[in-house]
Order: sequence, then C-alpha cells, then structure tokens
Amino acid sequence: MVSNSRSDLSGPLGGSGASRSVRMVEVVFPNTTNHYGTMFGGKVVDLMDRAAFIVASKFSNQNMVTASVEHIDFYAPIKSGSLVELNADVVYTGRTSVTVKVDLFVERPVSRTRAHASSGYFTMVSVDESGRPMRVPSLNPESEEQKKEWAVAKGLVAARAERKQVRDEK
Ligand SMILES: CC(C)(COP(=O)(O)OP(=O)(O)OC[C@H]1O[C@@H](n2cnc3c(N)ncnc32)[C@H](O)[C@@H]1OP(=O)(O)O)[C@@H](O)C(=O)NCCC(=O)NCCS
Repeated sequence: MVSNSRSDLSGPLGGSGASRSVRMVEVVFPNTTNHYGTMFGGKVVDLMDRAAFIVASKFSNQNMVTASVEHIDFYAPIKSGSLVELNADVVYTGRTSVTVKVDLFVERPVSRTRAHASSGYFTMVSVDESGRPMRVPSLNPESEEQKKEWAVAKGLVAARAERKQVRDEK
C-alpha cells in the first residue's frame, strides 16, 4: 500500500489530500493467486473493501462498517507479479451511509501495459461504539462526472430500498 511517510496524524495519509478519494497500490504475489496464476476474485474484493473502508473513514472521520457490496465487475485477469492500483472515491452520501466506488487497474511495468480490471460499489455505514448508525458529512457533487456517479449510486440505493420492501413483505 502506498502511504505518506509522516509520523503525525494531522495530515492526509495514503491519499492526495482530498479525503473523498484514496489511491492504493499493491503487488500481486503468488499467495493470492489461483492455479491459473491469476488473482482470486475474493482477494480482489478484499482489496477493494479495504480501499472503500479507508476512504469512507477519512471522509467521515468516524468508525465505518461495510453494509453492502454491489455491482462488482471483473473485466480482466490479474496475473501474479502485476501491480494493482485501487482508486476509491466517495460518490454518494445518505444520512448515515456513504457509497464508495472502487476502480482497480492492473499494470505490468516491464511490458508497460495497463488495464481496467475491476470496479464496484461499497456502502459503508458510520457507527458509534454500540454499533448504532451515526450521521455522516454530506458530499456535494460538483463536476459533471461526480454528478453522474451520484445518480448511479442513487439508483443503487433506490433498488436496494425496493428489495428491502419485498423482503419485509414476506
Ligand atoms: C450496517 C448496519 C450498521 C446498519 O444497521 P441498521 O440497524 O440496519 O441501520 P438502519 O436501518 O438505520 O440504516 C442505516 C443506514 O445503513 C444503510 N443500510 C442498512 N442496511 C444496508 C444494506 N444491506 N446495504 C446498504 N445499506 C444499508 C441504510 O440505507 C441507512 O443509510 P442512510 O442513513 O444513509 O439512509 C448493520 O446492519 C450492521 O452492523 N451490519 C453488519 C456490518 C458488518 O459487520 N460488516 C462487515 C462485513 S461482515
């Protein structure tokens, strides 16, 4: 994981300074791959969940838990020896939850190739010491891209509410 070498905690750690975004870089060793020599899907999700947790914690400055993992796509295999870069962005905020989009890119430094390998949405909920949900700061989408991502995440929240209604009616 890439992080700053600061010894105090007053400034940004592991990010560019903007707490709505975090970038992490990892190397893929054989202990995370399958018999095809490519990374396990579960390990990919693990890395993405970590990135989502980190950015949600930095955004809210509160304790966060993962409430849901949605729409994870795997576009390209990730070979042993590759570098993976994870870009995690807070794209939506509710009352007590934030939605984080994580994009994962795979790089082969020797051949200088780079591919978008995976993406997914993680809902992280802020909780107090008793596990009760707490309010989070609000995100203000500004750019066109941020507004588009906000709309996508809002769609996920609406679909989830519909699923919950069906579940509650059973
Ligand atoms: C996440 C958790 C704190 C929510 O508690 P809850 O009592 O259901 O809380 P509420 O119904 O008041 O919902 C609180 C927020 O969580 C969101 N939420 C609840 N369940 C969710 C789910 N399955 N997926 C996405 N968001 C969810 C709600 O939409 C709400 O968001 P909002 O305030 O921004 O509108 C609770 O379900 C929990 O502790 N789950 C286990 C978390 C965990 O251990 N994760 C690690 C992986 S195992």
